[in-house]
Amino acid sequence: MNEIKIFCPATIANLNCGFDILGLCLEGIGDEMIIRKSTEKGVKITKIVGANLPFETGKNVAGVAALALLENFELDFGFEIEIYKNIKTGSGIGSSSASAAGAVYGINELLGKPFSKVELVNFAMKGEVVASGSEHADNVAACLLGGFTLIRGYEPLDVIQIASPNELYAVVLHPHIEVKTSDARAVIQPTVSLKAAITQTGNLGGFIAGLYTNDYDLIGRSLKDVLVEPFRKHLIPNFDEVKNAAINNGALGAGISGAGPSIFALCKGKESAEKVANAMKDSYQSTGIEFDIHVSKVNSKGTETI
Ligand code: HSE
Repeated sequence: MNEIKIFCPATIANLNCGFDILGLCLEGIGDEMIIRKSTEKGVKITKIVGANLPFETGKNVAGVAALALLENFELDFGFEIEIYKNIKTGSGIGSSSASAAGAVYGINELLGKPFSKVELVNFAMKGEVVASGSEHADNVAACLLGGFTLIRGYEPLDVIQIASPNELYAVVLHPHIEVKTSDARAVIQPTVSLKAAITQTGNLGGFIAGLYTNDYDLIGRSLKDVLVEPFRKHLIPNFDEVKNAAINNGALGAGISGAGPSIFALCKGKESAEKVANAMKDSYQSTGIEFDIHVSKVNSKGTETI
């Protein structure tokens, strides 16, 4: 095989109680990439459609992730990458992660799968540094593996994949404004109180227990964020109003998707998700900011060949 076309899905990171460690993979929204072997050594970004991103390999998220993987080999050929972006940059649904995950997934397939998807997370997260200034794997793990993912630890990387309860749906409202991940990380406090840490870890434990036991109420009760949301929400116009509209209309919980500005809600069942989506839409209209809204089941496949 000399060429591969892949789909790299959008993701929701953090999920309120798991800053930098929880992720969820979305269905139906994502980028496409074509990766092919070339006689020229190294990695060349040959085409970018749908976004204004650097072609220089060392400055491009996909390029950096690809180079991190290729450091493990002495090859006498290289790779060309074409990127077709559907996920807007700075949207909070894993745009940079999709590029990083797609690059390492595609190259790994063309090399005959020397690495597992879990191992690929190590390389993909190097790409994230270009976009956000810090190595975190919550989006890339969910994008590569699908379902819910938990980063149990970073040193060494320990990624746990968790299947989604069947009736779980995500709603994502994406306001058409850009929030740079690096800016959204700059507003967070570097230290937290013991009281806040206890609240957050209790909710994280509850959330994971809820996923394993299909306990939707427990999932909802656990969707709280006392560490990050209070510092970031002012970056998102009408955040509180949209969150309340979602919860008052039956969402299990709602919050900031990744670094924002997208706002997510989790719901039990499609009917509930559609009702919540309508309520979020109505609530956002008054801002005058353009937006789009997605209702999605949890994508269990992650990055895949198409
Ligand atoms: N966990 C990351 C953050 C996700 O919230 O900053 C965005 O890359």
